[in-house]
Amino acid sequence: MANEFNRLAEEAAVYQSSLKKLIGDGFVIYNENALSVMRRILDKYPNGCFDMIFADPPYLLSNDGFTCQNGKMVSVNKGDWDRSKGFTADLMFYEEWLRLCYALLKPNGTIWVCGTQHNIYMIGYLMQHIGYHILNNITWEKPNPPPNLSCRFFTHATETLLWAKKTKKAKHVFHYDVMKAQNGGKQMKSVWQIAPPHKNEKTYGKHPTQKPLALLHRCIQAASNRGDLIFDPFMGSATTGVAALQNGRNFCGCEVGAEYFEVAQNRLRFLLGD
Ligand SMILES: C[S@@+](CC[C@H](N)C(=O)[O-])C[C@H]1O[C@@H](n2cnc3c(N)ncnc32)[C@H](O)[C@@H]1O
Repeated sequence: MANEFNRLAEEAAVYQSSLKKLIGDGFVIYNENALSVMRRILDKYPNGCFDMIFADPPYLLSNDGFTCQNGKMVSVNKGDWDRSKGFTADLMFYEEWLRLCYALLKPNGTIWVCGTQHNIYMIGYLMQHIGYHILNNITWEKPNPPPNLSCRFFTHATETLLWAKKTKKAKHVFHYDVMKAQNGGKQMKSVWQIAPPHKNEKTYGKHPTQKPLALLHRCIQAASNRGDLIFDPFMGSATTGVAALQNGRNFCGCEVGAEYFEVAQNRLRFLLGD
């Protein structure tokens, strides 16, 4: 297992010095389009090399609308990376990275994919079309969601995580007892109440759609082993990377935005005490 990480790190080190990347103790992160990185890794590992993938893709919701934050009306726009290019182009983009993730996942590995009603049905359709076997539909319930400004429908209070493996017969990792213990001795349900990221998770810079560390800790502790190699194609501020290293896993991540890559670098470096 560690060998795969070491090979990945060695290859990253020699690959085009002009491209920005950071290689540290247990992690490799690329400031590059995830699709290019995935194709490159696939050339080296045609049978896959990742034990677990966590994908929090652009939800493509930046449509010039408004939402409410701390009692104030604010734009929903996150950046150009979050703008829809139209249904067909969005579908093609989602299909491309979901197929690459499928190829890069080891035969018994699992993938978590995040979304909301806006993209999760497209993702679920594509995943089944590609061949993924869906294990759970996790509902992440936010205890204190922003109010709905229009007052014409329910306020959005949940996100979905689809957890899947490559084939129905694959022997996936699930730490049932760990999850049960975390739920006071009762089976862990597929509805998780988890608060948004705490202020101290943003000490090293902000990301507009940062996931809470607690959410990543749960996914990683449920579905991977110590020493495993975890991949996040859209790592943003590297929440997955931080949780992976804190749990003794190795991490590989991609982030196309220079500003967010900086945040990711700072978070991971702080963790290693640099
Ligand atoms: C939803 S955010 C992920 C947030 C992350 N989970 C966190 O906790 O910080 C998606 C990220 O993917 C990045 N992104 C978009 N398209 C990309 C691509 N093709 N390759 C790599 N990163 C991409 C965006 O810049 C954005 O930071």
